[in-house]
Amino acid sequence: MIELTDYSEAGWSNVDARARARFYCEQLERGEILFVDASRFRVPQSDRAALLKIAPLSLRQKNISYAPSTGVIGGLGGSSTDEDFASAFARYSAHSIRFCAGLLGPYSDSWRVELASFRPVEEHDRQLSMTERNDLLHVDAFPGRPTNGARILRFFTNLHPHDARVWLTSDPIPSLAARQEYAAMMLDCGRIATSAASRAIANLMRAAAHVGIALPDRSSYDRAMLRLHDAMKGDAEFQADCPKYRHEFGPGASWLVFTDTVPHAVLAGRFALEQSFFIARDSLIAPESSPLAVIERLAGRAMTKQAGESVERQGAL
Ligand code: SIN
Ligand code: FE
Repeated sequence: MIELTDYSEAGWSNVDARARARFYCEQLERGEILFVDASRFRVPQSDRAALLKIAPLSLRQKNISYAPSTGVIGGLGGSSTDEDFASAFARYSAHSIRFCAGLLGPYSDSWRVELASFRPVEEHDRQLSMTERNDLLHVDAFPGRPTNGARILRFFTNLHPHDARVWLTSDPIPSLAARQEYAAMMLDCGRIATSAASRAIANLMRAAAHVGIALPDRSSYDRAMLRLHDAMKGDAEFQADCPKYRHEFGPGASWLVFTDTVPHAVLAGRFALEQSFFIARDSLIAPESSPLAVIERLAGRAMTKQAGESVERQGAL
């Protein structure tokens, strides 16, 4: 983990901002977590109060989501959303987007701003199905939101007034891939994702879009990452034997991490906020350390669609 030392809501301190932004981007891409002290990014007290009063029982989904592009809140039960809650959630999203745009200049021109989420349920001993469980190490891949090789960057804030949010992480994908047993797991996911059967299903899903049935248009890379998410959670040996690091993010702290690269699990904590971004491949500082590069290298073939192509090329790398 590295700590942000020269940027806050007020902007950069007296440093070469371009060089420092590139440094932080590269460290993140290589699998570091960037810790942001509570004094550098603040959620106003009145917004905190509005967010904390949401009862976890009112959840219809695993988390509550907010779409910055439409302003729609998802996952809350009941017919009317509390106005104070909705506007505090929207302000957090806008504030974290502004904060990250100022910090991560190399990304912000071409990133895709994704959903924000609020996590009001205590994670310790939470009862969820195996693939939904948050306490098993995994890399992120979103079934409904394929990235076609863009990377998933997430900004988290622990809103709990007293308790830390406790995470476990493992080594990032490129380091894990240096170990034979974990490379085999990744290769397996890559192979299944590029198999004839898997491509045929993807083509059917694409065809469905032409007749008005909206299904996610997943590249081989997206299919491989969804498999890897499940494979890690379902592999008891991986969970037991892989290198592990414990982190406690205190009340008010924020942190940034590429969750498609850093296997992570949350062991305890309540009331986290989060804003996601998809970082375009072209804006990466160290593209060779991306999970796309690692899995393509293992599989020996390209796994995404290039700009302007409607389907993936099937050739070898
Ligand atoms: C995740 O597994 O992506 C969520 C982690 C958290 O809620 O702290
Ligand atoms: Fe995750």
